[in-house]
Amino acid sequence: MTRRQVAKYSRLTLAIFLVFCIFILATRDEKFPTALDGTSSIERTTLRPAIFKKDFCVFDHKCKIPRLNPFADEVIGIFKPPKFKECTDQRDIINVVYDVTKRQYLLHVNATLVGILYRNITAFACIYYEIVRGANDSITWKVGPVPFEQNWFIPHHINGIVVECYVAGNRSRVLQRDAFSFVQYPSGRNEQVDEARSRINPSVIMLGIDSMSQMNFQRTMPLTARFVRQLGWYEMLGYNKIGDNTLPNIMPLLTGLTSHQWRSQCNVRLPGCFDQFTYLWNHFRNAGYLTAYAEDTPSIDTFHYFTFGFIRKPVDYYLRPFLYMIQHILKTVKLFGYDYCLGRRQSYRYVFDYCLQLVQRFVQDTPKPIFGIFWSNSFSHDDFSGPASVDRDFVSYLERYKEHGLFDRAVVVLFSDHGQRQGPLMNLASSFLEERLPMLHIYLPPWYRKQYPEFAQALDVNRYRLSSTLDLHLTLKHLLVQGQAGLKLNSSVSKCQSLLEPLPENRSCEDAAIPEHWCTCDSYVQVPISNLLLYWARTVVYRINKYLASHDYAAKCAHLKLAKLLRAERKQFFDDDGAAAVPPQRIETYRIKFVTRPNGGLFRATFLADAERNVKVQEEFITRLNSYRNQSFCVSGHVAQKFCACLEANQSFTVINIDVNDQGTPC
Ligand SMILES: *[C@@H]1O[C@H](CO)[C@@H](O)[C@H](O)[C@H]1NC(C)=O
Ligand SMILES: *[C@@H]1O[C@H](CO)[C@@H](O)[C@H](O)[C@H]1NC(C)=O
Ligand SMILES: *[C@@H]1O[C@H](CO)[C@@H](O)[C@H](O)[C@H]1NC(C)=O
Ligand SMILES: *[C@@H]1O[C@H](CO)[C@@H](O)[C@H](O)[C@H]1NC(C)=O
Ligand SMILES: *[C@@H]1O[C@H](CO)[C@@H](O)[C@H](O)[C@H]1NC(C)=O
Ligand SMILES: *[C@@H]1O[C@H](CO)[C@@H](O)[C@H](O)[C@H]1NC(C)=O
Ligand SMILES: *[C@@H]1O[C@H](CO)[C@@H](O)[C@H](O)[C@H]1NC(C)=O
Repeated sequence: MTRRQVAKYSRLTLAIFLVFCIFILATRDEKFPTALDGTSSIERTTLRPAIFKKDFCVFDHKCKIPRLNPFADEVIGIFKPPKFKECTDQRDIINVVYDVTKRQYLLHVNATLVGILYRNITAFACIYYEIVRGANDSITWKVGPVPFEQNWFIPHHINGIVVECYVAGNRSRVLQRDAFSFVQYPSGRNEQVDEARSRINPSVIMLGIDSMSQMNFQRTMPLTARFVRQLGWYEMLGYNKIGDNTLPNIMPLLTGLTSHQWRSQCNVRLPGCFDQFTYLWNHFRNAGYLTAYAEDTPSIDTFHYFTFGFIRKPVDYYLRPFLYMIQHILKTVKLFGYDYCLGRRQSYRYVFDYCLQLVQRFVQDTPKPIFGIFWSNSFSHDDFSGPASVDRDFVSYLERYKEHGLFDRAVVVLFSDHGQRQGPLMNLASSFLEERLPMLHIYLPPWYRKQYPEFAQALDVNRYRLSSTLDLHLTLKHLLVQGQAGLKLNSSVSKCQSLLEPLPENRSCEDAAIPEHWCTCDSYVQVPISNLLLYWARTVVYRINKYLASHDYAAKCAHLKLAKLLRAERKQFFDDDGAAAVPPQRIETYRIKFVTRPNGGLFRATFLADAERNVKVQEEFITRLNSYRNQSFCVSGHVAQKFCACLEANQSFTVINIDVNDQGTPC
């Protein structure tokens, strides 16, 4: 056999093994009552976890999520950890220092260093531009240039600046240009009240990395993974996403509403829509917290990807106007698909530095309850291996937060929205789980664990229970209402709940508000590709074309045809004794993977088929597994882009190579 064939074989075997082991273990569990007849129920419950924890994230009668090896051969074969890349090798001429007694930042220019770096220069000067947010997220001003003196105290109203030092008499000979944002001391706060409050209500810092599955996190960020294995951290292994990309997962996290609920309130493609919701930060702010929100890639950030963001500033400390402006002023360098360097540093560092300032100011200097979300896309969104290059840097940020007391005081959540959705990981047997199981690690500080031991116990139990984004939303609200007598938790989705209380066993995806297409609980068996299945697959493609037509895209986008049905699987149902059962109302659930013509689109779809063989398929359950690159340039919006192959440019479409391997890769 050639190496290729060997690889092909091992992938196929793994795929079969996966399906097989779910089945075997499921069966094994069903035999438990007989095997252990006569033993007490306590022994049974203590025995069971020992079996599943190594092989399963969740293992009960309703839900079985296999636990994958992040370092399986199939992945390691394609994982080339990239090296860390600095953005400049020149030392900083301009420095920001914080004067703790005056509670003010000041700018220091290192003239000695200028003399060392530019020996032939006799005089230089520096100026700054202030960055100001306008009437809405689309408008940002640059005010300046303004000259400043050595050790200039930055006034409290300034949130961000760009600084330039240049050769005296010639503005075009720039020696160094840099940008800084400031977490300024707020006016009108009562320090005694803040301090007292922060003893009852923990600060909450949420650190997010886009497109990071629990497996890819272990694989690409081993140092960070080791950091979050310390005491007080809990990894939620049964954390399942509820929507395709960022917005459908982050909106429910921030608002507690399902996609159906929030989409029915207004059209997110119209300005002002996002201003209408009550977000977690609003709840926290109402409870006296200072709030912060930062993202590192303004072009694709959560609220600006084909949408207009906010009219009103959503939080007290909002980094977006600053980042949005500096990406137009500073030199940028692309890596992993996005602006990796923004001027002299990595774009994610602006986000983590902002968090650091917040921690220094409001955890260390003058304690105040804070709620902040710090999100990065830049190194993880388009390249699954990218995070490997920033692992060490990420940990050093965590270490610095620790030095400033964050982990003594605050609840910290390290999380993601979903796993990789496209790219090389999607060709593997593990792709289904890779996409659907975002990482979620929750940290409770020592005083909080001591005060509420039941919360720590619940988190420990919930590590191996099925959970979703909406549960996480309720968890954060729970932290808020705890200690505030009389406040009750409300859920807009009845069976979702806070993770600070034990989740029930036998929880179904439906209970956790996880739609079928995203549910990782069920076992599926491969079924042969019959004429009926081909007919169904064509019906799914028909549904795509119908979507395009009903949104007036028919003239712009190619009419798609089924090129090949790669694989089909049917959901298995079991009765209480573990015997194969007929599904309720005889409605079968199928999963298929197929390729379309002429665009070479690789899709995965979940659909229902009733006893009369009628098919029901929803557009949101047809998802794209390969990149559409610029094939969809003529349309905007996530759904249209995943389906549309633009006709205009008369472009020749990239034909994707359909590897026969795909036939062995589970849907
Ligand atoms: C200025 O730069 C020099 C040379 O790198 C360094 O030795 C010195 O500590 C710097 N001064 C300040 C105040 O940062
Ligand atoms: C001054 O020195 C810098 C590097 O040290 C060099 O790039 C620049 O061309 C020099 N300028 C003149 C006018 O000599
Ligand atoms: C200023 O510097 C630029 C770039 O080094 C140069 O092209 C220009 O001639 C200089 N102007 C003056 C007035 O010296
Ligand atoms: C932002 O504000 C400007 C000026 O008021 C207005 O012209 C523009 O339409 C607004 N854009 C959005 C998306 O709200
Ligand atoms: C919770 O729900 C009740 C009844 O639906 C409502 O009156 C109350 O205002 C809600 N509380 C919050 C905090 O949303
Ligand atoms: C889970 O479901 C099984 C089968 O229906 C049942 O035997 C078991 O008692 C349930 N466990 C709990 C905790 O409800
Ligand atoms: C699409 O991208 C390819 C490669 O980057 C480029 O050659 C082509 O011109 C682009 N087509 C359109 C229509 O933008």
